[in-house]
Amino acid sequence: MQYRLLGKSGLRVSELCLGTMTFGEEFGWGANQDESRRIFDAFTAAGGNFIDTANYYNHGTSEIYVGECIRAERDALVVASKYTLRRPGANPQDLNGGGNQRKNLRLSVESSLKRLGTDYLDLFYLHVWDWTTPAEEVLHGLDDLVRSGKVLHIGISDSPAWVASYAQAITELRGWSRLAAYQGEYSLRQRGVESDVLPMTRAMDMSMLAFGMLGGGVLTGKFNQAGGPGEATRAHEATPQELTMAAAVLEVAQECGRSPSQVAINWVRQQSDNIIPVLGARKVSQLIDNLGALEFRLSPEQIERLSQTNPRTPAYPHTFWGDWVQKMIFGERTADLHGLQE
Ligand SMILES: NC(=O)c1ccc[n+]([C@@H]2O[C@H](COP(=O)([O-])OP(=O)(O)OC[C@H]3O[C@@H](n4cnc5c(N)ncnc54)[C@H](OP(=O)(O)O)[C@@H]3O)[C@@H](O)[C@H]2O)c1
Repeated sequence: MQYRLLGKSGLRVSELCLGTMTFGEEFGWGANQDESRRIFDAFTAAGGNFIDTANYYNHGTSEIYVGECIRAERDALVVASKYTLRRPGANPQDLNGGGNQRKNLRLSVESSLKRLGTDYLDLFYLHVWDWTTPAEEVLHGLDDLVRSGKVLHIGISDSPAWVASYAQAITELRGWSRLAAYQGEYSLRQRGVESDVLPMTRAMDMSMLAFGMLGGGVLTGKFNQAGGPGEATRAHEATPQELTMAAAVLEVAQECGRSPSQVAINWVRQQSDNIIPVLGARKVSQLIDNLGALEFRLSPEQIERLSQTNPRTPAYPHTFWGDWVQKMIFGERTADLHGLQE
């Protein structure tokens, strides 16, 4: 395990983060408390210090299990949680029981701290953009939490790139706490972040926390086997295109003598230096398998071969920037631009 700085901060985090959406069984596809503990122990034994949870995961049980795990060495760990989705126990009739507004922010952080049994979070994310709360209200509220000491760093997840970039500009102009991390779905199956989110994170000095790297399990090739996965799994089926992607992952895995899961993780990990994968595992054996991604790298040819199974489909305005536009801007010297535009 190696270590990174989170965004443009001095916080040292492991190059892999442990996702704990599987801690608890309320969603129907997670781990019980003992198995969750084994997953946590295997991660920290491998040198991991960065743990990801959210108030919503298994309706609060994930935070409770994480709280038990971190109790003995809280300060040696970097603990992240998130708010937006309905607070566990919120009245379904309560319009403010979820959302990005200051009221839900304050109530959510207080209840997360209680479930986690800690008096501070190292990183607190806005979980999902709600399209109604002004960015200033969110950022001022988060900055107040930092000033109060309940939160040390802030992040944003599942939000459009333009929102995150506008928000970062506000933090800079107002002298508020900067967004240190963006968390978003990124896998061979879901490449949407490549157009705007990933370049935005680099330009705005944020770490990119990538989740869903295995497509919820589909990219491990479970559904390419005759008879399916052979056990109850979170994913229920795979589309023909997902089966094609998974077949390519299996082929590369065989070439490398590694597991398909490790190949799918490294396809993401090798896309950009600021990416920190958020590992998902339901069993300790899966977590140990996934940690093996650190032991090798894919070749550029293997990455390209995998990418060809799900080519990028750029949307406007990316579709507009063909060679002719480059020439209309830079004249005949477009060949000199390599590096200038990175
Ligand atoms: N910000 C957000 O909105 C957001 C959303 C989702 C997740 N997250 C975070 O990201 C973490 C990971 O996300 P994810 O669970 O969606 O990721 P994922 O890596 O795409 O899927 C994980 C699932 O794949 C299967 N799996 C994992 N390792 C395996 C292996 N070695 N071999 C075979 N199957 C394996 C397991 O399910 P089965 O055994 O049931 O097949 C596991 O639950 C979460 O825990 C959470 O912390 C964040």
